[in-house]
Amino acid sequence: DWNMGSFVDQAIQAIKAQVGNKRVLCALSGGIDSSVAAVLVHRAIGDQLTCVFVNHGFLRKGEPEQVVKTFRDGFHMNLVYANVVDRFMKRVEGVTDPEQKRKIIGEEFIRVFEAEAEKLGEIDFLVQGTLYPDVVESGTATAAVIKSHHNVGGLPEDMQFALVEPLRDLFKDEVRALARELELPEDIVWRQPFPGPGLAIRIIGEITEERLDILREADAIVHQEIKKADLYRKVWQSFAILPAMKSVGVMGDERTYAYTVGLRIVSSEDGMTADWVRLPYEVLDAISRRIVNEVKGVNRVVYDITSKPPSTIEWE
Ligand code: XMP
Repeated sequence: DWNMGSFVDQAIQAIKAQVGNKRVLCALSGGIDSSVAAVLVHRAIGDQLTCVFVNHGFLRKGEPEQVVKTFRDGFHMNLVYANVVDRFMKRVEGVTDPEQKRKIIGEEFIRVFEAEAEKLGEIDFLVQGTLYPDVVESGTATAAVIKSHHNVGGLPEDMQFALVEPLRDLFKDEVRALARELELPEDIVWRQPFPGPGLAIRIIGEITEERLDILREADAIVHQEIKKADLYRKVWQSFAILPAMKSVGVMGDERTYAYTVGLRIVSSEDGMTADWVRLPYEVLDAISRRIVNEVKGVNRVVYDITSKPPSTIEWE
């Protein structure tokens, strides 16, 4: 009879046996898979584990602080916080092509990670939050590449590490149960999927600091209102998009010419197909009002009512 407690004990024994007294590195994103994998490995080998958290500047409001607080202050892990916001901003300056953005961010991420690994020196193992469906999927031929979903945090092929993959036999719901067993905060246990390139692929067109700030604020409002309506766990993803367009509005007796924010709130089983959520009008209304009132530079909010296919969940 299978239970979480005995899974944890067995996983810890297996990690200890695999790693011995060697040192282990983990790219921690704050997503559920890498978080659970890191906490499990930390339980097994403590300070032999170092986690690297890369802030590329395209994270959501409060995210870097939450990761540092949870894993450094809460779990007392060795956590390297690589704040490389400026570096990424320089690299994406003027870039508008979606695939180009993904490529640049993915490559730059690997460079940052490699540099941090080099600074630490003498690392033999790398933790990966690979789940059972990932294991199965990578054994099958994939169809045409729609978007280059190389997970930021994916490992560079020429890096000489052996892998520690404590979640290889688990499905997503089992990882959630495990997260609770390991006392991860609810925010992480229930976190919606978030793409590796982050807000960079939710800003259509050029990424500027101003546009990042606008999207980050609008997205935080979507998050708050969806939570308040008790929908956060019920939908697959709920977030804001910043299209590359401005339109005319009126505020007081002033003409405005400002950005439009798009809302993307979808239901899905696995992200492969999705449907737009028939959100109650009151919730849509609250989100819309708050965004135009509180986010400077926005005068219009629209709701994306397309399913996947033919649309995709993200806009880039
Ligand atoms: P699309 O936009 O292709 O997204 O319908 C399907 C799911 O994948 C997520 N997504 C990504 N996840 N790296 C990731 O780790 C990526 O580059 C990436 N692009 C999209 C998306 O949020 C959705 O859940």
